[in-house]
Amino acid sequence: MRPFIVFINGSPRERGRTFGYLKAIERGAKKEGAKTQFFHLRDFKILPCLGCYSHSPKSCTFPCKVKDDMEKIYQVLLKAEGIVIGSPSFWFSVPGALKNFIDRLTCLENNGYLLEGKIFAAPSCAEESGGEEVGHYLISVFNEMGCIIPPFATPFFNEKEKGTWQKKDLEILGRNIVRLAKVAKKLL
Ligand SMILES: Cc1cc2nc3c(=O)[nH]c(=O)nc-3n(C[C@H](O)[C@H](O)[C@H](O)COP(=O)(O)O)c2cc1C
Repeated sequence: MRPFIVFINGSPRERGRTFGYLKAIERGAKKEGAKTQFFHLRDFKILPCLGCYSHSPKSCTFPCKVKDDMEKIYQVLLKAEGIVIGSPSFWFSVPGALKNFIDRLTCLENNGYLLEGKIFAAPSCAEESGGEEVGHYLISVFNEMGCIIPPFATPFFNEKEKGTWQKKDLEILGRNIVRLAKVAKKLL
C-alpha cells in the first residue's frame, strides 16, 4: 500500500520558509513510499464560511453551499490518507486564507466526520514568536476533526535561531506519517 499524503502551503509566499519545511517532510514521506500532492492555498479562491452550522447543524451541508475552489480541495482531502499543513505565524495565528480554509472544513466534520482517521501534521515558522501557538492550534483543530497525530507532528522554526535540531526531524516526521497511515488503514 502506498499512502496518499497531501501537502498544503498556508503561506502566501509560494517559495518561502514554510514551503521548504513542507518539502523536507515530503522527501521523508516519499522515501517511505508515499504518493504525494503539493498545493499552495494562495492559488485557490477560498471564500469565508457563512456560519450555517450556527443556525442549525442541518444547514451545514456537504457539499458546502458556498461555491468556489474548495470543491476541488474537498475531493483531494477525502482521498488522502495524510494531510500536512504548513503555516507561518501571522500575529500568533494562521494567515487569513488558511483560516477560511479551516472554517470551510466544518461541513466535513458535521456530515459524518469525513476526516476521521487521516494522519495530520503541522510545521510552522515565525521570525521570533507565535509559531508554537500556530502548530498547537492546527493540531487541536484537526485532532478535533478526527485526525491522528504522529510523533514530532509540530516542528516549529524560529528563524532567528539558525540550524535547530528540529530541521533533522522533518524527514523523520514524513516517514512517521506514512508508517502511521499504513497502520491506521489496517485498523480503521
Ligand atoms: C502579516 C504578518 C504577521 C506576522 N506576524 C509575526 C509574529 O507575530 N511573530 C513573528 O515572529 N513573526 C511574524 N511574522 C513573520 C513570519 O511569521 C515569518 O517571516 C515566516 O518565516 C514567514 O514564513 P514564509 O516564508 O513561509 O512566508 C509575520 C509576517 C507577516 C507578513
